[in-house]
Amino acid sequence: MNVAIVGYGYWGNHLVRNFNNSENWNVEYVCDLDTNQLAKVSKLYPNIKTTSDFNEILSDPNISAIVISTPVHTHFELAKNGLLAGKHIWLEKPMTASVEESEELIAIAERNGLILHVDHTFIYTPAVRKIKEMLEKDELGDIHYFDSVRVNLGLFQHDVNVIWDLAPHDISILHYLSPKKVLSVRADGMAFHNFNDKKIESIAYLTVELEDNSIAHFHVNWMSPVKIRQIIIGGSKKMLVFDDMEPMAKLKIYDSGVSIQTRDDIYNALIQYRTGDMYSPAIQHYEALASECKHFYECIKLNKNTDTSGISGLYVVRILEAANKSLKNGGVPSLISY
Ligand SMILES: NC(=O)c1ccc[n+]([C@@H]2O[C@H](COP(=O)([O-])OP(=O)(O)OC[C@H]3O[C@@H](n4cnc5c(N)ncnc54)[C@H](O)[C@@H]3O)[C@@H](O)[C@H]2O)c1
Repeated sequence: MNVAIVGYGYWGNHLVRNFNNSENWNVEYVCDLDTNQLAKVSKLYPNIKTTSDFNEILSDPNISAIVISTPVHTHFELAKNGLLAGKHIWLEKPMTASVEESEELIAIAERNGLILHVDHTFIYTPAVRKIKEMLEKDELGDIHYFDSVRVNLGLFQHDVNVIWDLAPHDISILHYLSPKKVLSVRADGMAFHNFNDKKIESIAYLTVELEDNSIAHFHVNWMSPVKIRQIIIGGSKKMLVFDDMEPMAKLKIYDSGVSIQTRDDIYNALIQYRTGDMYSPAIQHYEALASECKHFYECIKLNKNTDTSGISGLYVVRILEAANKSLKNGGVPSLISY
């Protein structure tokens, strides 16, 4: 199937390499407004056509799908025009700059029978697949809390704050593992630098209240001296730590928990702590993007939604939008209305 990739920056680079290596795809065009970037494409991949004119791709009937890997504020317009031209769309995270835009793209894709895929890459990693498998087998029990830390030094984005840049990864993982309804979002953050006279938060803490009395917390930071990529999931049966910086033992399962037994005749609760074994399950090794390229192709062939369709993109954008609102209001929780 012929694909065009729009935006050959940091991430576009990885996309072109993976689509080009895939036996399912033929990369017909790479499009970028920056001709220096296009020159790099021509040098590495002499067979791929390059263009700065997006319309050239829209009007080419041989192109079945368009991959959009440009800055967030351009996603909606490019994706909308792509869908209206009858192309399946792979859209980078975060899907769009607003809930309204995400909803419109979902509606256009549905109306036209097209696949709208959002690149929440972590969902295609072997580690996240393994956690999902464990949840499906009820090994962890119900999720009581989800606590993530994603901090490092740079890369600063110029058009979005650190929440829009880093939190989509963890929010999309939460959605994939346990798609509970979000009730409210609270965000605290701080901006220390100006970009084009605009203050952009580079550190933030998000607290998300979910239905069924559970909670998620996301800590994101572009200014940390150390790189941490960690998620703790507190299940009613077992607890899990996902440390993506670990080369081998990325997942650790703790047979730990707390159970509270109340007696009718006494007021105080009796709390029992359980600290059992810890083990690290074996997980496979493969590149998430390669598996995602194959999945996108198969879903187009079967005309079925991908594991990270517009719905998952919208879930993420809904939380991001509410987080920005809370930031503006000094950390007052934003209630989510559906
Ligand atoms: N899935 C992931 O893990 C992951 C990782 C990093 C970035 N991303 C996402 O990928 C997207 C791009 O991020 P990046 O870090 O590669 O940015 P970047 O700035 O490095 O690259 C963006 C490229 O898009 C080009 N561009 C801008 N507007 C364009 C337009 N209208 N038409 C054609 N080309 C245009 C720019 O010239 C640039 O080469 C963002 O949405 C980002 O959030 C996803």
